[in-house]
Amino acid sequence: MRRGIIVSFEGIDGCGKTTIVKKFYQYLLKKNYQVIVLHEPGGTKIGDRIRKILLSKNIEMSKFCELFLYLASRSQLIEEKIKKNLERGKIIILDRYIDSTFAYQGYGRNISLKFIKDLHSFIIEKKYLPNITFLIDEKPENLIEILKRKNKDRIEEESLEFQKKVRKGYLEIAKKNRRVKIIKRKSEEETFLEVIKKWEEFLNEYKRSKKLPFESKTKK
Ligand code: TYD
Repeated sequence: MRRGIIVSFEGIDGCGKTTIVKKFYQYLLKKNYQVIVLHEPGGTKIGDRIRKILLSKNIEMSKFCELFLYLASRSQLIEEKIKKNLERGKIIILDRYIDSTFAYQGYGRNISLKFIKDLHSFIIEKKYLPNITFLIDEKPENLIEILKRKNKDRIEEESLEFQKKVRKGYLEIAKKNRRVKIIKRKSEEETFLEVIKKWEEFLNEYKRSKKLPFESKTKK
């Protein structure tokens, strides 16, 4: 049976992960892999509607409402997109995935990590967890200028203290999970090269393990 790979990108707001995701996607395409990029929250018709609610400003939202909406969007994405594409042997790049919920709703909003983990056990089977995760790490203080230039969404409008908690959360998650590779944010090119280095290391190990055969496929 052929099976794809799930790669997720994580980081606090403004860390530049979306730019790196685009470059990584192009890199894999050039190598003739079959790749798909998905962006959370969203990525499905229902998910895109949920995204609008989640990120709309001037709206009071309880932290549990927020948590369940992120999970609702994720559940739909898994059923509609992730399962199918993984079975087709594609590399699925996720611009945010489960770790965002632990970092933002868990560490950021102080919702029990165990509760978040338990909820995930209902919506996601082990085989749909990321094989590798890149955490683009930067101090939130260094991203203030970037965020100032953006038309901020509801979460991005949160305080510096909140972003600090989220970053701390991400670093804790990385400590606990071998799959999470911390990439210190540098220039766009340097950050990207670091991602590629870690990716190639991962891929070699992955192919060697032979547990799940994976080969570059010529695009159809
Ligand atoms: P994102 O789409 O990555 O923002 P951008 O417009 O910069 O690309 O993410 C939207 C926001 O949602 C971001 O501030 C992080 C937040 N988020 C959570 O709080 N929990 C989650 O589970 C996810 C997936 C995102």
